[in-house]
Amino acid sequence: MALKLSVIGTGYLGATHAACMASLGFDVVGIDVDESKISQLKLGKVPFFEPELEPLLAEQIASGRLTFTTDFSAIADCDVHFICVGTPQMKDGLAADISYVNASLDAVAKIVKSGALVVGKSTVPVGTAMRLREKLLSINPAADLAWNPEFLREGFAVEDTLHPSRLVVGVMSDSAENILKEVYAANLAEGTPWVRSDLPTAELVKVAANSFLATKISFINAMAEICDASGADVTVLAQAIGYDPRIGNKFLQAGIGFGGGCLPKDIRAFMARAGELGATESLEFLREIDSINNRSRNKVVEMAKRELGGSCEGKRVAVLGAAFKPNSDDIRDSPALYIASQLKVAGADVVVHDPKAIENSKKKYPELSYVDSVDELLAGADLVLHLTEWKQYREIDPVHAKSLAHGAIIIDGRNALDMNAWSSAGWRIHAVGRTSR
Ligand SMILES: NC(=O)c1ccc[n+]([C@@H]2O[C@H](COP(=O)([O-])OP(=O)(O)OC[C@H]3O[C@@H](n4cnc5c(N)ncnc54)[C@H](O)[C@@H]3O)[C@@H](O)[C@H]2O)c1
Repeated sequence: MALKLSVIGTGYLGATHAACMASLGFDVVGIDVDESKISQLKLGKVPFFEPELEPLLAEQIASGRLTFTTDFSAIADCDVHFICVGTPQMKDGLAADISYVNASLDAVAKIVKSGALVVGKSTVPVGTAMRLREKLLSINPAADLAWNPEFLREGFAVEDTLHPSRLVVGVMSDSAENILKEVYAANLAEGTPWVRSDLPTAELVKVAANSFLATKISFINAMAEICDASGADVTVLAQAIGYDPRIGNKFLQAGIGFGGGCLPKDIRAFMARAGELGATESLEFLREIDSINNRSRNKVVEMAKRELGGSCEGKRVAVLGAAFKPNSDDIRDSPALYIASQLKVAGADVVVHDPKAIENSKKKYPELSYVDSVDELLAGADLVLHLTEWKQYREIDPVHAKSLAHGAIIIDGRNALDMNAWSSAGWRIHAVGRTSR
């Protein structure tokens, strides 16, 4: 008989994981403490934007394999429980708040059946899994716990879940590994690399990977600073170094840096954990990565103020993009909204457009103005900021845009627009690490 799975925490990660596992033929119960989220999911509605997820979710609910609940007793008969709850940054420090992980383990430990496997997917400080396993076994010695970190990218979450780049399984027993091999049989059949490790290594793989990615982005942003100081072009530099396969050309786009619900909080939590382990020095470089990242945002704020002649009062600033990255409505730690709100504080009349993230943005930044169309956004703008690289923004006709705007000045915070096309259309265009045109 096919395994029955539960997915605890049905946010970006959990809702995707639940729908994808159901599509592989498993019976899946998604469970969350957020009743409104569960009511929407029950109706086949995804409470956030993720391409391809909603049709998959609706299809799996209709198949009868996928259900949602807020009642933990409804998952007591599951063979595998995936913990996918949030691990945000603590309000008063750099560390991760793992209270949701602790609460979900407590809840599942009460109902888990003998022989079942609890599998952590949330990103947690190293050492968490071992502690949780001890707790679980103290309540039910016949259950087990493994850690299976998640590497999906928002915007590609369905594809990444169904066809991951690798599967990392931190286990303490062969039987735990065998259960996970059954869950991921389809991936194994298509040759997905399988890495078995102990629990701390599995936890560390995730934060090490995110630290490397963050480092790559801040590295190119540091190069952009040097290019700005020396008159070189960071986009050509990135292209040229990227041809070296040891470097690669991904994640080398200079701009306003990284944001979202993972990279910033993960590197900070990693530093905090290193401190607790007496290894502060080992991750001291991440402090610099974080500060380069923050500087990248602030540089665009300063550039915008300069372009507005030193005073933002009464100036209309049009912001293209609010989500932390395209193909997502996630605004957690969004560089775009940070820049928009800083300019608002400085007195500008800031108007924001985003194809998917307006509703989330309105809740968190009610002081900003929002419009539904790019034409409305550009109308009368003294300054345009391109801050999230949605495809539709690259397709804006600069000639048409100029007929709408007031100022014909644009800052490309993502180095994604065609500088020549915009400058030929009469715009003054700035981008980090490149000479303005
Ligand atoms: N979003 C991503 O792209 C991504 C990728 C890889 C890893 N992760 C990691 O996955 C975890 C979840 O991230 P997310 O983006 O899905 O977060 P999220 O905030 O979108 O979702 C977390 C969900 O957990 C629920 N929850 C909290 N406490 C609960 C409890 N006790 N029982 C049941 N549900 C509970 C919340 O209501 C929420 O719906 C984090 O550790 C994150 O770092 C996220």
